[in-house]
Order: sequence, then structure tokens, then C-alpha cells
Amino acid sequence: MRGRATSLRRRLTWTLIGGAAVLAVLFYLVVRTYAQQIAQQGQDRILEASLTSLMDAAVVRDGEVEVDLPYAAFAMLDTAADDRVFYAMHRGDMLLTGYDGLVEGPFDPVPSLAFDTVGFAGAEVRLARLTRVLPASPASVVLTVSVAQTRDSLAGTLWAISVNAALFGGAFFVLAAGMALWTSRSTVRPLSQMAEAVARRGPRDLRPVVRAVPTELSPLVTSLNSLMTRLSASLTQSETFIAEAAHRVRTPLATVRTHAEATLMRVDKDENRAALRSMIRAIDESSRAAGQLLDHAMVTFRGDQLERRNVDLVGICRELVDRLTPVAEMKDLELVLRAEGPVEVQADPILIQNAVRNLIDNALKYSPPESEVRIEVGSDPVAILVCDEGAGFPAAQIAELSQRFQRGANAGDTVGSGLGLTIAQDVAEAHGGRLELVNIKGGGACAALYL
Ligand SMILES: Nc1ncnc2c1ncn2[C@@H]1O[C@H](COP(=O)(O)OP(=O)(O)OP(=O)(O)O)[C@@H](O)[C@H]1O
Ligand SMILES: [Mg+2]
Repeated sequence: MRGRATSLRRRLTWTLIGGAAVLAVLFYLVVRTYAQQIAQQGQDRILEASLTSLMDAAVVRDGEVEVDLPYAAFAMLDTAADDRVFYAMHRGDMLLTGYDGLVEGPFDPVPSLAFDTVGFAGAEVRLARLTRVLPASPASVVLTVSVAQTRDSLAGTLWAISVNAALFGGAFFVLAAGMALWTSRSTVRPLSQMAEAVARRGPRDLRPVVRAVPTELSPLVTSLNSLMTRLSASLTQSETFIAEAAHRVRTPLATVRTHAEATLMRVDKDENRAALRSMIRAIDESSRAAGQLLDHAMVTFRGDQLERRNVDLVGICRELVDRLTPVAEMKDLELVLRAEGPVEVQADPILIQNAVRNLIDNALKYSPPESEVRIEVGSDPVAILVCDEGAGFPAAQIAELSQRFQRGANAGDTVGSGLGLTIAQDVAEAHGGRLELVNIKGGGACAALYL
């Protein structure tokens, strides 16, 4: 797989959770700002009412301003938090009554109402100021009334609203995050279920996927199914090709060999006979190489898709011994099978047979006449041993002999392609086992196929 792996589920989860977090914060800020505005408007309205009633209490008599401070003007400013209230009355810029320094002139000589938030007496206060022109003779009087109130009650209300908004936002976030987790999990579930179903299949199971999937996934399933169909077709094709090719290469070679041998009988000239002999040898080499290459291809192919069946290793060996005894007898060799009862394992019989045939074939090729080749089948550990009484594997090369096309120094002019041990090793590994080559002390080679 190329590139950095990303998780759809993680991406979906984080996007949804991120969205929920942004919404929750936005909600909190909007509620807070709005609440602040409303609360401020409430306080301003009361301050305005108080100002008006103070202003209404002022009269101008003989050019002097007289005020009888109405109790109600201050009572309406009472709050639960006992906010402090300050006031001041100015005629023009001159303080008539109230707190000095609460407001500074000069005041506008035209009627006006203004609100401001300022610091006074060590606290933050909301200040309202009303200027009116009172008609009087000889000259009208400009009167400014100011009322200020601390903001403790307002801050308390705001705090309560903020806490509630935060709680509500938090609860919304938790709920949304839970839903995000659930949504992303349930969205991705069909994908992982499909992957699991495909992964659970056996290596040769190339049936199309038929489970119901969300519509977004169906193009993937369609491509997967078409890939499976093509794969299955090409597997079947290569299987038949291997068998066919083996047959087609060996048969004509065998015919050529027969003709060459017949000709050899008829010619007398030494140089012609030598030429024919090397021709026969070349045919043998080619035939052997073709056979081993095809066997190797078959082993690789079947090993990739191992089809295990219950097989009796002793049965397989006995069959091989029976089949190869005539070959052994030509060299005065004796094939001996040693086994106690059947040894049953889960394996691919064709592969096992191929591996053991190669091991016996080696023993027959590389051991001297009139000796014995032993085939032992053990059940604990499950293994097939093929031992001979020859000179053993060339010690210096023993580690490389099972590599492809590797022949030993002792191979001399025996016909071979260097693939036999490779095949045996691949078979062992396909079954989760290994091939071990050892030389016996008193002489002889032993190849052990552990399964
Ligand atoms: N029983 C044995 N005794 C001694 N040497 C052996 C024995 N079996 C294998 N060898 C050595 O290991 C080499 C590799 O064996 P391998 O079976 O892979 O190839 P090969 O026999 O030469 O060719 P082929 O592909 O036809 O089997 C042989 O060339 C030989 O040198
Ligand atoms: Mg061999």
C-alpha cells in the first residue's frame, strides 16, 4: 500500500466532534452576549425611570431650583445584591446636590439622555444622565440629573446565565460526541464486515461477494467480484497449462530419444556413436530440466493455495517405493520403507509425493550400487527421512544445496537440474515445516522433510 494510511472512521469522528465543539462554543457565546444586552437594557430602563422621577420633582421658584427628593426614585433601584446608588444634580455646571465628582461638566445646554459605564467609588457603575431646560423667568434653567448604580446584581444574573449556557453547551457537546462516535462506527461497520467476510475465506474460495452492502460500497463489491472472476479463470488456466506443458514437452523428447537410441544401435563409426551419445544426454538433460521446472512451477502454484486433506504419509511413501523399486533394482539398490502404522496429517498429497520422489531420486542418483536406501516415516515429530549409504552431501555446500539450480560438486555427470531439493524445501515450507540435510557419521546422506 502506498502513501499514509488514513482512517475513514477516525476522520468522520473527528469532523463530527469538531463540528459539535464549534457549535457548543458558538452557542455559549451567543447566549452570553444576548443575555448581557438584555440585562443591560433592563438596568438602563430603570435608571431612566429614576432619572425622570427626580427631574419631575425639580421646580424653579423665584429663579431658584427646589427639589424634594422622591423616595420612590431610589426605591425602584433596589436590587437583591444591594447595589449602591449615587446621584447628582447640576444647574448648568454647578452641583446643587448629590455626589461631587460623579459626573463632570460642562453639560450640553440642550435636552439629552445618555448612558455610560464608568468607575466611581472603587466600583464599576452604570451612569445615566438627563439634561432638561426648565422654563423660568427671567431666564430658563438648564438642569442635569445623574443617577449611577453599581453592577453587582447584573453581574450575578450574567454569571448565572453563563453557567447555565455553559452547562447546556457542554451537555450538547457530550451528546453530539456520543452520536458522532456511534455514527462513524455504524457508517464504517459494513466495510469492516465485508473485509472480515473476505478475509475469513479459504485461499481457493473465489466466489463472488453476495452480502448486502450500502449503495456507496456496491461499486467496490462489483470490482472485487469481477477481479475474483478473472483471478479464478486465470488460476484454472495456469493449472491446466502446467499439466499440458509438461505433457507436451516430455512426449516429443521421449520420441526423439527413442529414435536416437535406435540409430545408435545401427551406426558403427565411433565419432557418430559419440555424437549420438551426447545427443541422448542432451535430450535427457532437457527432459529432466523441463520436468523439474514444471514440477517446481506446480509446487509454487499449489503451495500458494495449499489444499490440505487428510493423508497417510506411509501410504504415499509405500506407493513411491513400489513405483521406484524397478529403477533402484537397475542399480542394484534396495529401497526399504520403515514405518509403524499409518501417519495421518492434513497436507496436500500431490506436493508431498513430489517432494519425497525428489529425495528418493537423489538417493538413487548419488549413492553407490549394492547399497540400501532407507525411507522412514515418523509421527512425533511428523517427518519423512530419506537416508542412503553414499558419500553424503558435499559438506562445504550443504547450506546452499536447496537453492534453485544449485548442484553439488559430487553431481559429476549425473543428469540433473538442481531443483529437486528446492522443490522438497518449498513443499515443506508450504506446510509450515522445513527441510533438513545432514550427513550420517558412518557415511551416507539423510534428507529430512519435517511437516
Ligand atoms: N543423497 C544425496 N547424496 C549426496 N549428494 C546429494 C544427495 N542429494 C542431493 N545431493 C547434492 O545436492 C545437489 C542438489 O540436489 P537437487 O536434487 O536439488 O538437484 P539435482 O539432483 O542435481 O537435480 P534435479 O533437479 O534433477 O534433482 C545435487 O546436485 C547433489 O550434489
Ligand atoms: Mg535431485
